Amino acid sequence: MKKITIAIDGHSSCGKSTMAKDLAREVGYIYIDSGAMYRCCTLFAMEQGLVNADGTIQADVLERRMQEIQVSFRLNPETGRPDAYLNGKNVEKLIRTMEVSSHVSPVAALPFVRAAMTAQQQAMGREGGIVMDGRDIGTAVFPDAELKIFVTASDEIRAQRRYDELVAKGETCDFQQILENLRERDHIDSTRSVAPLRQAEDALVLDNSHMTIPEQKQWLLERFKERTLSPASPLQGKE
Ligand code: CDP
Repeated sequence: MKKITIAIDGHSSCGKSTMAKDLAREVGYIYIDSGAMYRCCTLFAMEQGLVNADGTIQADVLERRMQEIQVSFRLNPETGRPDAYLNGKNVEKLIRTMEVSSHVSPVAALPFVRAAMTAQQQAMGREGGIVMDGRDIGTAVFPDAELKIFVTASDEIRAQRRYDELVAKGETCDFQQILENLRERDHIDSTRSVAPLRQAEDALVLDNSHMTIPEQKQWLLERFKERTLSPASPLQGKE
C-alpha cells in the first residue's frame, strides 16, 4: 500500500501532537513535531544570548548562526515517543517550558528560520509515510499531502489542556498566563507574513473541544482509512 503524507495543522495546544503521534504509531508512520523544531531554534537563541530582555531577537546574529542548529528526533524507549535533540543533546523537557513558549512565535516568524526548518521538514517527508503536525504543514511544507486536517478547539479548553499537561509533569504554572500565551501565539502565528497559520482549502476541519482522546483518535483513523483504502475517491467535503 502506498504510504501517504499526513499534515495536521491547527491552533496552539489543541491536541494535534497527541493525535498525530497516536496515528503514526498505529499505522507505522514516522511522526514529526514541527513545533519542536521551532522550539529548538528558540532554545538555541536563548542559550546563546540572542533574546534581548525586552523579548526582541538578535535576528542578524541568529541568521548568521542558523547552520549551527541541528535538530533531530530519536525514539525514547520509555515513552515510546520521539524526543527532540538539539545538536546531539536531548532537549525534550527544556523546549516545553513556558519560557520557550513565550519566545517561540517571534522566532518562528523569522523568514530565514522558516526557510531552514521547512527545508529540513521536506527532506524528512520525501518518502511519504509521515505524519507531521504544525501550523503550515498543509499549506507550505506539504501542499500536496494526501490527508490534511485542521484542528481547533476553544481557547479556554486549550489552555486547560496545556495547564493539566504541565501540572502532570510536576511544573508549577498559572492558568491565566497559559491562556494569554496561547492567545498571543495564535495571533502572531496567524498574522505573520511568511507561512501564516491558516486552514488549507482542502483540509478537513476537526473541532475537538468536546471530544475525548480515544474519540479523536478514532475519527482520524477513519479519515486515514478513507484515504489509503480508496485513494482515488474525492474529498468527502469539509466536516
Ligand atoms: O504545542 P503547542 O501548540 O504549544 O505549539 P508547538 O506545536 O510546539 O509550536 C510552537 C510554536 O512554533 C507555535 O506557536 C508557532 O509559533 C511555531 N510553529 C510554526 O510557526 N510552524 C509550525 N509548523 C509549527 C510551530
